[in-house]
Amino acid sequence: MTVKKKVPSVTFRTRVRDESIEGPNPYRWDEKKSDDYFGGKRVIVFSLPGAFTPTCSTYQLPDFEKLYDEFEKERIDAIYCVSVNDAFVMNAWGKALGLQKVKLIPDGSGEFTRKMGMLVAKDNLGFGMRSWRYAAVINNGVVEQWFEEDGFSDNCETDPYGVSSPQNVLETLRTVKTAAVA
Ligand code: BEZ
Repeated sequence: MTVKKKVPSVTFRTRVRDESIEGPNPYRWDEKKSDDYFGGKRVIVFSLPGAFTPTCSTYQLPDFEKLYDEFEKERIDAIYCVSVNDAFVMNAWGKALGLQKVKLIPDGSGEFTRKMGMLVAKDNLGFGMRSWRYAAVINNGVVEQWFEEDGFSDNCETDPYGVSSPQNVLETLRTVKTAAVA
């Protein structure tokens, strides 16, 4: 019997802009549940070691943004980037990159990442606990396809990147679709 892995049910603490708040910082807390992001949709989630880090900021996140429309053609309803960073950092990162399409999910406590089995120590970089790089296609909260970088480990000296790249995920989605209709 195949047991399909479900994404964990957690609460994410996000910060959203609220024009009814006066002053220089018109943002408020907005709690989101896993089901708000993953329920009733077919989405991609990818996770990385940290906001503003070079590979993530130069390649992985901008490339998911650039290829967003191509993913939509493969029946993907949303793309989420999760990082073990708080909502303030994630919002600042999204603003710095001018993100319009990919949504950032702050997993500041690492609870989602830990329950996904992807939490690793990055004390060798002074980062504390962070996410191993992975991507997944999630269909109504259930993992449909899984893309995990090799070498899952604490304090890894390298930062493998390729399996979870948007190019590889997109190619796989296209191949699976082609195989299904052949
Ligand atoms: C990078 O994305 O390039 C990176 C990630 C974690 C640590 C150092 C660099």
